[in-house]
Amino acid sequence: MGRLDGKSAIITGAGRGIGKAISRKFLEEGARLLICDVVPDRLDNTAQELSRLGTVHSLPGDVTDAAYCAALVQRARELFGELNILVNNAGIALVRPFLEHTEADWDRTLAVNLKSMFLLGQQAARLMVAQGKGGAIVNMASTNGHVGEKRLAAYNASKAGVVLLTKTMAIELAQYNIRVNCVAPGFIQTQLAEEAWADDHFVKAYLEKIPLGRYGQPEEVANVFAFLASDEASFITGDSVVIDGGQLSEE
Ligand SMILES: NC(=O)c1ccc[n+]([C@@H]2O[C@H](COP(=O)([O-])OP(=O)(O)OC[C@H]3O[C@@H](n4cnc5c(N)ncnc54)[C@H](O)[C@@H]3O)[C@@H](O)[C@H]2O)c1
Repeated sequence: MGRLDGKSAIITGAGRGIGKAISRKFLEEGARLLICDVVPDRLDNTAQELSRLGTVHSLPGDVTDAAYCAALVQRARELFGELNILVNNAGIALVRPFLEHTEADWDRTLAVNLKSMFLLGQQAARLMVAQGKGGAIVNMASTNGHVGEKRLAAYNASKAGVVLLTKTMAIELAQYNIRVNCVAPGFIQTQLAEEAWADDHFVKAYLEKIPLGRYGQPEEVANVFAFLASDEASFITGDSVVIDGGQLSEE
């Protein structure tokens, strides 16, 4: 028996990386999925690859688009009859010095990483409230939502916003038994991390900051999402669960 048996879920940014690992884990735990990504081919490949594990539907689109967010929730309702879980995972990271950040960098980063969580979170929560059966929303934050890091001004600000948006949603939606948490990973080995920090020297030096002495894997983050989305986490809401190999524990 899977711990997400009988649950339906939307997962954003599922085309690759951590979102794909979360999708795989959720299917293994028995959930039925509607997955989203802004890159249609990527999404198609993931849906095809994971379909042997269970029910997985896809709808490509951009989570910064309010109409798309509404359509995504509507599609989940048509497919599954109800929506129990939302995973807001999609995100981008633009690495450049503060003095070189453009207004467009700032706007796009805040839109993808934070505004999308408001838009989709609100649509999903409205449906969950109407259903009257509670629900779980798990947002993707980052250790960068807790401490600053050079050359990531917009990213850091967006992820700090996710932590406080999560807490606010949690306290307002608690009366409906809708739990809202976020996950704050440190350095996880994905294409985003490799593209953002293309410099091998930087990536190796980063290891010095991680007490466990290695980078995290997408599957390790997916495990935390599955736990928080499941009934096993029934008394956890408003939390930000750090998964960083001990990085934030050491100055
Ligand atoms: N990799 C890390 O070290 C790390 C650490 C902390 C937090 N995170 C966060 O985890 C999340 C996933 O990161 P990842 O490393 O798997 O990245 P990734 O780039 O490998 O995957 C992100 C996916 O999101 C999709 N996406 C981007 N913008 C979108 C949009 N507007 N609408 C819909 N889909 C969109 C991309 O196409 C991609 O498939 C992000 O929110 C990121 O900030 C990553």
